Order: sequence, then C-alpha cells, then structure tokens
Amino acid sequence: MSWRTENEGGALRVVVTKDLPGERWVEVLTAAGCEVVISTSRDILSVDEIREAMGERCDGAIGQLTEPWAEELFEALKQAGGKAYSNYAVGFDNVDLAEATSRGIAVGNTPGVLTETTAEMAVALTFAAARRSGEAEVFLRAGKYDGWLPDLFLGKRLWGGTLGIVGAGRIGSAYAKMLAPGHELDVLYWDVEARPELESFFEGYSDLNAAHGGRRLSCRRAESVEELFRESDIISLHTPLLPETRHLVNSESLALMKPDAVLVNTSRGPVIDEAALVEHLRANPDFRAGLDVFEKEPAMAEGLAEIPNCAIVPHIASATTWTREGMATLAACNVAAVLQGYGCEDSGEIDHFLEGDVPQKAPSILNAAELGL
Ligand code: DGY
Repeated sequence: MSWRTENEGGALRVVVTKDLPGERWVEVLTAAGCEVVISTSRDILSVDEIREAMGERCDGAIGQLTEPWAEELFEALKQAGGKAYSNYAVGFDNVDLAEATSRGIAVGNTPGVLTETTAEMAVALTFAAARRSGEAEVFLRAGKYDGWLPDLFLGKRLWGGTLGIVGAGRIGSAYAKMLAPGHELDVLYWDVEARPELESFFEGYSDLNAAHGGRRLSCRRAESVEELFRESDIISLHTPLLPETRHLVNSESLALMKPDAVLVNTSRGPVIDEAALVEHLRANPDFRAGLDVFEKEPAMAEGLAEIPNCAIVPHIASATTWTREGMATLAACNVAAVLQGYGCEDSGEIDHFLEGDVPQKAPSILNAAELGL
C-alpha cells in the first residue's frame, strides 16, 4: 500500500482511500486542522487495508463506492475515535447507514455536482445505442469499411417517440429535459412520487414549442412501471439501488419492452438482471442497450462484451474534471464540517461550497436528522 500525507501533524486525522482530483478538497481539510492521509494506490483497498490505515487514531474518512462501508469499517472508525465518513459518490448503496448511525458516525454523500454530467452520459449512451456509434467505430478501426452503403449500421430514429424515465429525481429529470425537448419526445416517468416541477417544465416548453409551430409534448407519471416498459421507445434508469429496485429489469420486464427499444443504465448495475439482458439482446438484435454500470462490476455478465447491440462504458457517467473535483470538495466539506461541530445545509444548494470561503455547514449528511446535526 502506498500513502501520502498532507498537513502532517494536524490536530485531526482523516484517511482518504483514493487520491482525488483537484486541490480544494485538501485545502478544506487542511484549513479544518486535519492531517490528511491519502492512498495513492489505484487498486481497490480491502477492508483490512482501510482498517489498518485508520489505525488507532482516525477522526474521519472519505471512501469509495467500491468499498463496503458497513459494520467492520464503521466499528474500526469508531474505535479510532472517528465521527465522520463521506462517500465519494452521490449513491450510497455501499454504505450501511444504520451501522454508522448506531455508532454516532455522520455519513455524507456528494449530490448536486453529478446531475447534468451524469445526464449527459445517459444522453450519449442513448445515441450510442440507438445509432450504433460504438459498433461502427470498432468496424471502422478494424479496417472493414469498404465504402458507403445504403444499409450500413442502420439504427433507430429517436425523434418523436416516448421517453421512459425510471426514477425522475435530479439526474432523471435533467436527462429528460436535455433529451426530450430537442427530439420532441413525450415523457413518461415512474417514481414513488409525482414530479410536478418536471411536468410543469414540459407544459411551459410545450407552450413555447406550439407557439413556434411545434407540437405539445406530454409528460406524465406512468400508472405503473410495467406501463412505462410497454410504452417507451427509450427507457433510462435513474433509480437508486434498493431491495425493491434490484433486478427491476429482468426477463419478464424485458419481455414487456418494444422489440426495438433502447435501454440505458447510468444508475447501478444490479437494477438490471444482466444475464437476462444478455439473453434478450441476443434474441432481439434490434433491441439496444447503453450501459455505464454493471451488475458485478468490474466484471460483465458472460457474453455481454461480445454483444454488438450494447454500448458499454466503464462507470464514467460522472467523469468530468469539474464534477470529480466538485465531488472531492463536497466530501471534504462533509467531513470537515462534522469534525468542526457545524450543522448541515438544508437548502440543497452546493455552489457556495465549490469556491470562495468554505461555508460553516456540511453540504449533505444522510443521517443528519438521526444524529441531530
Ligand atoms: C455516484 O456518485 O454514485 C456515481 O455512481 C459515481 O460518481
């Protein structure tokens, strides 16, 4: 294991299990009086390695979505005197919140800076899948292009179809707003709650579009997820991974989808039963998928890598410099604020954390209410 230390001798000690982009996050922790111990290894650290790094004195930690932050690590953090943990991610299915809360450890995440960036990748995957750009690139690079042909890589036209959003929270809504107006798509969303702000955006957009000779676009909450699967030309998954969303897309739900539908996943891999998807893609060559995440990451289900009607990227939907630096800053602000005894922001605003004086608040603590922060 290789580690580097910033602000050696700081009164508080924070362990960070991967080096993070940007500089502000180190400045935030340093200004809060923290010695920052950073893993410089590109390997995913084991629980033992993280425990060893926290040692006997560790006030806070910033960890990765690839690490299981559960009983063992939270107990080790507590034994080391720790009070704060932040995931370097907005998703937190790798964190056992109850285990942290029961030990009085605050848990942060990094919402707000990933929204448009992740939506952009979902849009990119939508087109890569529908218009077969990855397949065509592989073909071209292999020297197989012998000249223009009328039927070379025929794909699916998206214009005027129905866009199905599973989970219309921040990222799902941003994706719908990015894609649907420009392509005159009707929007059907499925969510635990109605999203009046999304519906009113499309009402307003329809007024504008109609005034310019375009058509009105509908945006409504589906009666059921099955209705969304049946009716949509594009289905994009933006739901958190929960017991009720694990394998939400399985052989039964795939069978409901149109044979030439486009399925996009930038949420979490296990929302799709990947073996069932492989089978479905093989049986339905006009059905296309665009995947950023995988069920057993970094592995892919057997056969998936060879299937042409699936566009794949390695969990990079949030990978822009601005977003990854922003995530680092928010994670550092979470830990620094808790260790300094500050409360938690409740406005959902994040911009003021990213530059200027660091606010005396934590940007996002998931168990703030339970811990009275
Ligand atoms: C997250 O933050 O949850 C993404 O999956 C990685 O940025």
